[in-house]
Amino acid sequence: MTASTFTVERITSVGAAELATLNAAFSDLHGTLENISAFLADPNNFLIVARLEGRIVGRATAHLLARIDDARAEIFINSIDVHRAQRRKGVGRAMLEFLKELGRARGASEMWVLAEGRDSNAINFYIATGGDASAATMFDYDL
Ligand SMILES: CC(C)(COP(=O)(O)OP(=O)(O)OC[C@H]1O[C@@H](n2cnc3c(N)ncnc32)[C@H](O)[C@@H]1OP(=O)(O)O)[C@@H](O)C(=O)NCCC(=O)NCCS
Repeated sequence: MTASTFTVERITSVGAAELATLNAAFSDLHGTLENISAFLADPNNFLIVARLEGRIVGRATAHLLARIDDARAEIFINSIDVHRAQRRKGVGRAMLEFLKELGRARGASEMWVLAEGRDSNAINFYIATGGDASAATMFDYDL
């Protein structure tokens, strides 16, 4: 799938060189070969990247979640991030659309994501891409 000159793809395995590229592209990632390989070994985990002329400019991670009350699963988007210099060019939308297609192909009926109430950029993005907002408060527990 493309958005202007961008390409979007799912990554299902990484070697040391690709991991170095990913870590360099996203300083928050700090991925090790061991943990990213474990993530990718699970077919219900998705790592999506957007490239511009071979360079990674966007990344999303998501999970296929089974439901006990519905035979159809759902997709939870855990993170989506576009390089600052490449925003507002359709990369985020292209990654969302890619995830929707992946979800449909796996029989999912819904896709959802959380955004902090004060994060107006993300909220505007999700509204613009067709997301239906509902209020909820998230609680974290340290384990
Ligand atoms: C949110 C984010 C992923 C959007 O990616 P993007 O590639 O810039 O988004 P797109 O270009 O596909 O935007 C699609 C539409 O969403 C809306 N939108 C996107 N960013 C917006 C912003 N900052 N303010 C208002 N509307 C915005 C617009 O309607 C846009 O269409 P337009 O540019 O034609 O007006 C990107 O801003 C980002 O990486 N932010 C930092 C990380 C983050 O906040 N992630 C989400 C955490 S919940």
